Amino acid sequence: MSASQTPASRTVSAFGGFGLPANDVQVLDRRWQRWGEDLIAGLSAVYPPETVARAQQVIAHGFAARSATLRERDEQRLLRPDWYQQPSMIGYAAYTDRFAGTFKGVQRRIPYLKDLGVTYLHLMPLLKPRQGPNDGGYAVADYRQTRADLGTIEDLATMAADLHDNGISLTLDLVLNHVADQHEWAAKARAGEKKYQDYFYIYSDRTTPDQYEKTLPEIFPAFAPGNFTWDDELNAWVWTTFNSWQWDLNWSNPDVFLELLDVILYLANQGADCLRLDAIAFIWKRLGTDCQNLPEVHAITQALRAAAHIAAPALIIKAEAIVGPSQLVHYLGQGEHAGKLSEIAYHNSLMVQIWSAFASQDARLMAAALSRFPAVPTSAAWGTYARCHDDIGWAIDDADASAVGWSGHDHRRFLSDFYIGDFPQSFSRGAAFQANEATGDRRISGSCASLLGVERALERRDNVALDVAIRRITMAYAMVYAFGGIPLLYMGDELGLTNDYTFEQVPEHAEDNRWLHRPQMPWEVAEKRHDNTSVASRVFTEIQHLGKVRATMPSLHAAVATKVDVPDHASIVLFERRHAAGNFVGVFNFNPHPQRLHVDHLWSRGLNRLHDVLTGRDLTIVGGNIIVPAYGALWLSN
Ligand code: GLC
Ligand code: GLC
Repeated sequence: MSASQTPASRTVSAFGGFGLPANDVQVLDRRWQRWGEDLIAGLSAVYPPETVARAQQVIAHGFAARSATLRERDEQRLLRPDWYQQPSMIGYAAYTDRFAGTFKGVQRRIPYLKDLGVTYLHLMPLLKPRQGPNDGGYAVADYRQTRADLGTIEDLATMAADLHDNGISLTLDLVLNHVADQHEWAAKARAGEKKYQDYFYIYSDRTTPDQYEKTLPEIFPAFAPGNFTWDDELNAWVWTTFNSWQWDLNWSNPDVFLELLDVILYLANQGADCLRLDAIAFIWKRLGTDCQNLPEVHAITQALRAAAHIAAPALIIKAEAIVGPSQLVHYLGQGEHAGKLSEIAYHNSLMVQIWSAFASQDARLMAAALSRFPAVPTSAAWGTYARCHDDIGWAIDDADASAVGWSGHDHRRFLSDFYIGDFPQSFSRGAAFQANEATGDRRISGSCASLLGVERALERRDNVALDVAIRRITMAYAMVYAFGGIPLLYMGDELGLTNDYTFEQVPEHAEDNRWLHRPQMPWEVAEKRHDNTSVASRVFTEIQHLGKVRATMPSLHAAVATKVDVPDHASIVLFERRHAAGNFVGVFNFNPHPQRLHVDHLWSRGLNRLHDVLTGRDLTIVGGNIIVPAYGALWLSN
């Protein structure tokens, strides 16, 4: 390590050699004191020593291009480092085109977002994708251009600024496991440029691919079997974990790290507040493993985050690792990485357990699984959600299942049957995604409302069943909004939208039934959201209310952990949050009938009054019990 790389050295400037104005050097040097060590530790775990100086150069370049407005935001957030952990954070995820047509269209819809209480907007892939099938934009052909039909990169920056003026932060996707086969790097690799061939995993014959395949799972077994694709122009096999036209990047090459760091700073400089690290679990490969969640993934994330914090501390990152519970927690930083990795990670386990408990009317597995989670850093925030644009995979640990006396395998099979609607008491209308004959694994597609019973009830014109289905949606979101973290509302859920079967008419994605739950925003429906008669307006009103109440509850700050347990009967689960500003207990009933709950279970959790902040009423105690309504959600707080 050279003197200029030593964070502890106060005399030698780390950023003095890049031709920046003295003020800028001072700012960067101060931040280097704070994050330089994290950067060096992350880099040195995977890359040669000279990578540090090369990263400093990318940082200096990114900082030089950062606008005065964004630098001001950096300073504000350094003073309020928990800005994304606030109870007022309410997330919304949508496709730009499906939500509002264009970036300008999104600006016109800001009043709608504010009506829902949204303060965090995730616009799904909007960078230039490959032509033809592109996995909903997750096959990026150019990280520095937007999809032409949405607007220009300048329009994106203008929209980001407008959102920001309205109190809404912007999350963009950073697809870092792969690029489209039409990306410039892939083209250069095909043209024979060695430098760019080294950006990918390329093999002239099947020897190495076959060795890897022995332990690699398949992500899309139905439409993209195997993990390698033959390319005629390369005359070789390319690593393609997802679709054949998504080429995995070779992150063991420091050039790939530096390229993507530059992209991160470029997007931050357009006004992005958060980058969603797509498919992050897959970026490191090792023979004999499943090539997911390897330790190098975390070292690289630490280096990326530290570098980004030095140039653009207003930016945070969110890990998209849809992995089992024992791996998930590492994405928020454990051990040496505590407090140094992604600020946000999707709480895939909570999501899976909500669906599991609705199907089984039993929350014991949820409690078993969630109470085994190790502590996460107090600077982290879970992204909590019921649905997203992807399928639901049954990431349930066999050990957790056996802790409640169940077989993991049988339970996963039951859940798939239930949500496909192939089970006697099912209320659901989902579809099997990527059924894998070899493993018996079936993931599930379908909208929140269709999976929770709205579609069936409407078909049968059964108003009682419809009321029950709406209660389930409200309860699911009452859990998502009360777990602590950033609740992520998926576009359409707030209106109870059912499955969109028209996807089958679009050849580009007809075989990918995740499009069942990627609808177009029906604005004619959304505009009647306050009429209080339609399904849409009833669901909207409930979810809007959850957001309003949540924003006033200091106990829902993400720094506080949620303790999850089942009091005495299987269908009720409690979320207990101890907070200096007042304790909180969420009570949720997965049973279709009202249930009694003894008040001792509540008094023992630090409440001094039984007051439900959702209804604004004190609870009635009868014979020492309260009654939790069918699919009821109570938010009790002092
Ligand atoms: C992510 C996206 C998913 C996509 C995959 C490959 O997991 O959420 O939609 O198919 O990555 O990029
Ligand atoms: C798998 C991957 C996840 C991806 C999804 C796409 O679950 O782990 O990253 O989003 O497939 O459907």
